[in-house]
Amino acid sequence: MQTIYRSALQGENREFQARNIPLEGRLPTWLSGRLIRNGPGSTRFGQQEVRHWFDGQAMLHQFDIHHGQVDYACRFLESQARQAAESSGQISYPEFATDPCRSLFKKVMTLFGRSSSDNAKVSITQFAGAYMALAETPIQVEFDPETLRSAGVFTYEANPVGQMTTAHPHQDAEHLYNVVTRFNRVSEYRFYRMGLDRQTQMVGAVKTGQPSYMHSFGLSPHYAIITEFPFVVNPLNLLLWLRPFIENYQWKPRRPTVFWLLDRETGTVAGRYESDPFFAFHHVNAFERDGEVVVDLVGYDNASIIQHYYLNRLTDSQVKLPHGTLRRYHVQPGKKRVTWEKLTHDCIELPRTDYDRYNLRGDYRSVYGIGLRGDQPTGFYNQLVKLDTQGGATLTWHTEGCYPGESVFAARPGGTADDDGVLLSVVLDTTAGNSFLLVLDARTLQEVARATLPQAVMFGFHGHFMAGD
Ligand code: CO
Repeated sequence: MQTIYRSALQGENREFQARNIPLEGRLPTWLSGRLIRNGPGSTRFGQQEVRHWFDGQAMLHQFDIHHGQVDYACRFLESQARQAAESSGQISYPEFATDPCRSLFKKVMTLFGRSSSDNAKVSITQFAGAYMALAETPIQVEFDPETLRSAGVFTYEANPVGQMTTAHPHQDAEHLYNVVTRFNRVSEYRFYRMGLDRQTQMVGAVKTGQPSYMHSFGLSPHYAIITEFPFVVNPLNLLLWLRPFIENYQWKPRRPTVFWLLDRETGTVAGRYESDPFFAFHHVNAFERDGEVVVDLVGYDNASIIQHYYLNRLTDSQVKLPHGTLRRYHVQPGKKRVTWEKLTHDCIELPRTDYDRYNLRGDYRSVYGIGLRGDQPTGFYNQLVKLDTQGGATLTWHTEGCYPGESVFAARPGGTADDDGVLLSVVLDTTAGNSFLLVLDARTLQEVARATLPQAVMFGFHGHFMAGD
């Protein structure tokens, strides 16, 4: 059965600019800055439709919030992938789960042969004065936050062929950190650090025969945490490339999930630890307490969530998405086995925290995300949730016919608690046929204001809020 929100999964957004969009409620006087979001703006490349939620053409959405009003603009990311599709009329670079047609593809590339897609549609990062659109391919696209126009590309290594990276780098005041997987006969997870001078340095690496699919990694005060799920690929299969990228990966339920701890400064492997097999897209936070490394993430019993995100399944109103839950893993030096527990039983995805002030801190409490209502558990994510890592009640926001996206936390200046601020989420309103920027009080999840957009925005992934005038 098709859903009322199908066009937010399969369709196309228009490029737009609108000043002072209609606002209900009153924005906090302190709220000033720019939210930029990333995600698919179209599932068509020329005449060709992509197959998976992670395949569409990157579009950047910008919300300028100042003096109690909101300006909105959106623009497709200027990429070679988009340009090539416009001139050839079809998909020209391999995406996550959709390949170009074989005859064209042979001439163009494989992951090992020529280049990977620069269709960076997953997340946004801002470091050392530069904004980047990121995906899992190693080509990241720098853009101008004012105009949303591309300003060049960045890669961790001079030769990005045969690499993937995570879409979720970590950062602190001096460095940006990421993990690059280099595929080869013996593959490597390479831990990279970038300085404010934008020079990159490989700090350390872990060798692996069958690399795992990794969307993010963990960082604690002393360690990089590389979580190796038993969802792995034989690198030779990527070399032959008989099927789309992610379909080369296999779930191996007899293998453990392995936590590798790398010293953040020296890059040396500080330990290898095993847990029950599980899968995750997103690490949430990590910290060190009483001699152990605590890793919080949104975990699944297996990797079937990736199959559920194919568009033919996701557009079925009866689809039952596997529930990601907030889990806490305890990595204890001297003990090979990692123990874990669920912090709550609520469904959550696209988890966010007060990263700037509470990352690496054991006293953080609030995790914000999208979830599924208990009384409407089928179809796409239909509520926002706020989970408490310290056992407090889960709060939710939902409205009939509305489908919210990731909620980004904006801290109130001078506040200290990790829910002293607001949440910013783009919500699809299927009744009105458009989307709105929802502003919630992060403490109560009560609505503060909403600003209505001139179109229904396709379901996206991640955004970044930068406070400022
Ligand atoms: Co992500």
